[in-house]
Amino acid sequence: MKVLVTGGLGFIGSHTVVELQNEGFEVVIIDNLSNSSEEVLKGIVAITGKTPIFEKMDLREKPAVQNFFKKHHDIAGVIHFAASKAVGESVENPLLYYENNISSLVYILQELQQKPEANFIFSSSCTVYGQAEKMPITEEAPLQKALSPYGATKQMGEDIITDVAKVTNINAILLRYFNPVGAHPSAEIGELPIGVPQNLIPFITQTGIGMRAELAVYGDDYPTPDGTCIRDYIHVVDLAKAHVVALQRLINKKNATKVEIFNLGTGTGSSVLEVINTFEKVSGKKLPYKIVSRREGDITSAYANTDRANTVLGWKAQSTLEHSLSSAWKWEQKIRS
Ligand code: WQD
Repeated sequence: MKVLVTGGLGFIGSHTVVELQNEGFEVVIIDNLSNSSEEVLKGIVAITGKTPIFEKMDLREKPAVQNFFKKHHDIAGVIHFAASKAVGESVENPLLYYENNISSLVYILQELQQKPEANFIFSSSCTVYGQAEKMPITEEAPLQKALSPYGATKQMGEDIITDVAKVTNINAILLRYFNPVGAHPSAEIGELPIGVPQNLIPFITQTGIGMRAELAVYGDDYPTPDGTCIRDYIHVVDLAKAHVVALQRLINKKNATKVEIFNLGTGTGSSVLEVINTFEKVSGKKLPYKIVSRREGDITSAYANTDRANTVLGWKAQSTLEHSLSSAWKWEQKIRS
């Protein structure tokens, strides 16, 4: 069976391509290489021995999207990762985010609605919850007004898919990721942040390897046990496997409704200082850091209630924070060697 993975050379996309190939799917990747490189293809092949079809394409080009679906009319499902995803950049350049993240989605859905049946997996984010009232966060938690255009595009994306699924033959699963971290155990693929990493784990591993002088901890005056923010750090391979399970659920028509939503996390919250201590344990390195002022837009705490994913989807994250951090560290050492 042929599956389209948009953004398939990206961090989560490439790990999902590997797991799809492991399950016997034929994979077609669309990527515009704006935040990835063709080198990632080599990493995928090194792991699975199978070469996905790769089409360099920008999903903002509507004619290109139309031609793609004419050519690949036998697609059994689409996993849609391709999107801009830097929160800070989205505040500086909202139209880049609204055009890229929304137009691409609309053009793909316009093609899928013409097919007799279509299965669509959407890359969403716990960002849609904002600062949820209750921890752990369930899928019923009320959505707060997005704090950034990036978060707004994820909320709009979910609404667009829900409205379209109601009146077409598209079945969809929305996957709300918590914080994806780590790298494939082979260290053939992993996170490749461009420039100064915005996210905590790549900044920590780059500090550990000596690329950065020290980590700035954005605030230790939050209402948490040690004063630093709490997040749910989920291993990217666990996340990738959830996408395969979700796609198989739709292909096998096991979905209960036209649109289903699942939180993907470990269910455990870890503070920034706990992450630092765990990194020092797995790397044997002392991590230099300093406490600075809070980062605009950061929420205090977010970790998932994973009951629905565990019971309905039949998926559960396997990796601990320690395992995730050691895979991230192994990857950092590999790419800097
Ligand atoms: C985690 C914690 C920071 C860097 C974002 C997006 C989310 C998703 C994942 C796309 C926070 C602290 C960080 C640093 C720090 N992306 N931190 N020093 O903000 O929870 O989520 O990335 O889907 O949508 O919002 O992740 O890794 O940036 O921050 O102290 O140099 O680490 O304050 O508490 P975040 P993050």
